Amino acid sequence: MRKIVVALSKGGVGKTTTAINLAAGLARRGKRVLLVDMDTQGQVAKALGLEPRVGLAEVMAGELLPDEAVMEAREGLGLLAGGRSLAALKRDIARKDFGGERSLAEALSPLDGGYDQVIVDTAPAWDVLMVNALFYGDEVLIPVALEVLALQGLVDFARALGPIQKYHQNLALRYVLPTFMDRRVKKSDEIHHQLVRHYGDLVCEPIRYNVRLSEAPGYGQTIYEYSPTSAGAQDYMKLTERVLQDGQS
Ligand SMILES: Nc1ncnc2c1ncn2[C@@H]1O[C@H](COP(=O)(O)OP(=O)(O)OP(=O)(O)O)[C@@H](O)[C@H]1O
Ligand SMILES: [Mg+2]
Repeated sequence: MRKIVVALSKGGVGKTTTAINLAAGLARRGKRVLLVDMDTQGQVAKALGLEPRVGLAEVMAGELLPDEAVMEAREGLGLLAGGRSLAALKRDIARKDFGGERSLAEALSPLDGGYDQVIVDTAPAWDVLMVNALFYGDEVLIPVALEVLALQGLVDFARALGPIQKYHQNLALRYVLPTFMDRRVKKSDEIHHQLVRHYGDLVCEPIRYNVRLSEAPGYGQTIYEYSPTSAGAQDYMKLTERVLQDGQS
């Protein structure tokens, strides 16, 4: 079971869009996928057109088993929803004397083997929930918006993984995903080149700026449902194929 955490402490870089459309893409290709929303904004469920009554918070609080809280979002795609109730949980974890960083891994351990892939969406913060996500996951995917100078945020975040890797050796930065690519903007190309120079093969084919991607959540749809021929659907399918190929090796 592969566990990919989509993360960067900077906001609005395309984490949630990536988590949803990568997870949905993998499910469309026949994988059994679990999408976990660790953001108190709870946008993943809304973007998929769902109104869950329970989710990750209840599982982490020990009130429900993971299976009882997973919603069938699409065929082959389960969702453990985030939302405001995660905020209280943050305080509970912070109060633990030790082992707090493994709360998510422990809470989700009954699911081991039940899915082919787990995709975790995180909030734009370096907090106990982010640390928990990184102690749970094995692979990190960092989306980097090319329209702003995001390179520093990426370098800082990648460096912050180091101390966690000391205790969780399986954790690896696996994908750097350029987002909001706009070929008309010179800066976009420049930042892309810089990324490749720093991160080489980890850099994926960019996700282009595509207005359809920003419209789809408002209709509660993935990009494949909302606009299957759009550049956004093509780009996220390419990412999906890359992740699938890595899974075979
Ligand atoms: N490639 C794209 N082209 C156009 N719009 C996009 C693209 N990717 C994401 N968006 C839109 O940009 C906004 C921010 O994206 P998203 O919510 O995925 O970022 P995020 O990193 O999860 O943000 P946060 O840090 O607040 O959780 C959203 O409105 C989304 O629909
Ligand atoms: Mg988000």
